[in-house]
Amino acid sequence: MKGILVTIDGPAGSGKSSVARRVAGRLGVVNLNTGAAYRAAALLALREGADLSDGPGLAALASRVSLDPDGASIDGEPVAEPDLRTPEVSAAASKVSVNAGLRGVLLPVQRAAAEAARERGGAVVEGRDIGTVVLPGADLKVFLLADPEERARRRARQSGREAELDRIREAISRRDRQDSEREVSPLRPAEDAVVLDTTALSLEDVVSRVLDLAEDLRRVGNPWGNPQGNPWGNP
Ligand code: DC
Repeated sequence: MKGILVTIDGPAGSGKSSVARRVAGRLGVVNLNTGAAYRAAALLALREGADLSDGPGLAALASRVSLDPDGASIDGEPVAEPDLRTPEVSAAASKVSVNAGLRGVLLPVQRAAAEAARERGGAVVEGRDIGTVVLPGADLKVFLLADPEERARRRARQSGREAELDRIREAISRRDRQDSEREVSPLRPAEDAVVLDTTALSLEDVVSRVLDLAEDLRRVGNPWGNPQGNPWGNP
């Protein structure tokens, strides 16, 4: 029986990764972080000294990236998480992700990883355009928001760089602009997404809200009209 597909989208620092990891754990399904694929493509571009605005070049590099629940790989070699999380890679990932060719290459990679996870019991998939573009037929779509100031504080705390709050705030607003103003797959909630403003909520509050939504889905069937029907199967 196929499992549930939950999408969690939102801007940098909105809590997607922390929420997705915990929700996946509580539901007993896989957590897929699609940002890792964009970060791996950006890392590869930096390593190769590629021009970050060269569409065909970036698409060719992206075709060497794969994604699974453990993270991203380049040429089949898993990339260590810390290598994907540097400020340089974060900035480059946001930059390369405006490119339509690169997005076109990474789209089937993300869908295949989500489908494989769903076959194995379900997945919580996080990113920017998962509910709108990658998995528009997902069972439950969540879009997380938070004030930019609060997001900068969370990022600073999370990375132990409290002294760099100003720089982090600036980097976040630059990424927000880039992610939401790009032409292809801009960051925005799907029409059928549940939008949660997490500014004043604790992580555990947000996790509970998402789990409640998943539980509603299990109890009443699929209120979002996914043509595949209730992903949990009939009781
Ligand atoms: O979620 P993250 O911060 O790891 O994502 C890194 C960058 O990748 C982000 O700035 C935008 C891009 N991205 C995207 O365009 N679409 C996705 N589904 C996931 C990430």
